[in-house]
Amino acid sequence: MAQATPTHGRVAAWLANHTDTPANRAVALAVGADVVGFGGGQPAAELYPLEALERAFSRAILEDGVKVLPYGASEGLPALREIVAERLGRRGIHIGADNVLITTGSMQGLHLVGRVLLDHGDTIVTEAPTFMGALGSWEHQQPRYLSIPVDDHGMVVDRLEDELRRAERPPKFVYLLPTFQNPSGVSLSLERRKHLLELADEHDLIIVEDDPYGEFWFDEGSEPVPPLRSLPGADERVIYLGTFSKILAPGMRLAYAVATPRLLNLLVRAKRGLDFHTDTLGQQGVVRLVRDGDFDFEAHVAAGRNAYRKRRDAMLDALETTFANDISWTRPAGGFFLWVDLPAGVSGDEVAKAALAEGVMVFAGGMFYPNGDGASIRFG
Ligand SMILES: Cc1ncc(COP(=O)(O)O)c(C=O)c1O
Repeated sequence: MAQATPTHGRVAAWLANHTDTPANRAVALAVGADVVGFGGGQPAAELYPLEALERAFSRAILEDGVKVLPYGASEGLPALREIVAERLGRRGIHIGADNVLITTGSMQGLHLVGRVLLDHGDTIVTEAPTFMGALGSWEHQQPRYLSIPVDDHGMVVDRLEDELRRAERPPKFVYLLPTFQNPSGVSLSLERRKHLLELADEHDLIIVEDDPYGEFWFDEGSEPVPPLRSLPGADERVIYLGTFSKILAPGMRLAYAVATPRLLNLLVRAKRGLDFHTDTLGQQGVVRLVRDGDFDFEAHVAAGRNAYRKRRDAMLDALETTFANDISWTRPAGGFFLWVDLPAGVSGDEVAKAALAEGVMVFAGGMFYPNGDGASIRFG
């Protein structure tokens, strides 16, 4: 039988202080809901490479089990760190395996960044709107948020420049999703990326580049603007977060953080105190999947690009046909998300509620704003 929680006294007062956030409720709701889910960042289930995973994991257990199943290094398996470094090299991020920490999802990367960088009450710069899951990872440090609006070319970096000039205390870091942003689908222009790096130098800031969707560009032959981490001057400034969640399967909880060895060492220490290391069987399964030669990993990623392009096109067509003159929306060149601006007076919460009643989940825009605001909905 469930135990009742205390209703008075010290524990009750402490519990009352920990109220839930709308974003947390939305994430909990989105997982496993029996609806047409446009809310969360779930990859297309038909893309999970089940048979290849079965072969790779079977070999990982039977042939490598004795080697990989004992406690392992907190940094992650060297072979997987090498694979990550090699794949990032193709996107212009030239690093060694010693710059890579394997994490239990990028969510953990975000959490570790907060543990290492944040002091109580520090300020974080975010985009507005931003990925609300990140805000949950920093909840315990109770940061302040300086939120900078996003337009069709990503974060309005000029606005950040003005805010930084005015700030009494510099923020600790800038968190952003420069490529196919969650939730808006827009990307930061190259010019703004460079400007942001200049500002980071001038104001001595760290940048946290969260990039789960950067490999899903839709226009053949035109890769997105290069990751921030690949630009000159970024090595010392940018912590880069990437994940296997969207290109393989999120339930595997396999992701990575890239940082200078000194920063990485701090992240590793924080991780050691958290879960010691990421599941080594999962790591070795992916090593086998990429290296064994009976599965074309890069063709799999390309198939994802095709599948998500079709989904984007279907959504754009449906919006065009249904709402052409009433609302406006973004036209993402990649990634999972699209942002709809509703007319004045129409509430995103009401639209989301009405959609849910019809078995369709979309998220109201308000929860993507760290300091409130926003009357839009997101289709993921
Ligand atoms: C922007 C962003 N960052 C991080 C994550 C979490 O990724 P992971 O599954 O690697 O924890 C997501 C998942 O939706 C995301 O959209």
